Amino acid sequence: MTEILEMYKCNVCGNIVEVVISGAGELVCCGQPMEKMQEQNKNQEMSGEKHVPVVEKDEDGIKVKVGSVPHPMEKEHYIMFIEVNSKDKRYVKRKYLYPDEEPVLNLKCSCDKVIARELCNIHGFWTSEDEQA
Ligand SMILES: [Fe+2]
Repeated sequence: MTEILEMYKCNVCGNIVEVVISGAGELVCCGQPMEKMQEQNKNQEMSGEKHVPVVEKDEDGIKVKVGSVPHPMEKEHYIMFIEVNSKDKRYVKRKYLYPDEEPVLNLKCSCDKVIARELCNIHGFWTSEDEQA
C-alpha cells in the first residue's frame, strides 16, 4: 500500500515517481519493485546542514532555502527539486532546479503549516517540517 506523496526510485534506470493517489499495488519498474525513498531530516544531517530545507515566512508568502549553509549547485552534485506541501497534503508545489541555479523556492501564499522537501542527486531525499508547525 502506498501513501500520498511517497517517492519511489527504480534502482535500475533511475526513474523517480511520486504517489499522487495511493493504491494497494506494488510499484514496479524495469522488472523489479521500486524502492521507497526515505525522507532524511536534521537528525541524519552530518555535513553542516547543507540539505535540510529552511522555511522562512513573511507577509507575501514563504521562501525555502537548501539549506542553512547553501548546498552546492554543480553539475556533479546539486539539488534536483524543492517541494512544498501543506501539512494536510492538499496542496503541492515543486520547483525543478539545475546546476548553477540558486537552491531556493519562493511561493506567494498564505500557507500556515508547510513541509518542505528536496532531492539531492547524491545524498537523496530530505525534509524539514515548518518550525512553527
Ligand atoms: Fe548533497
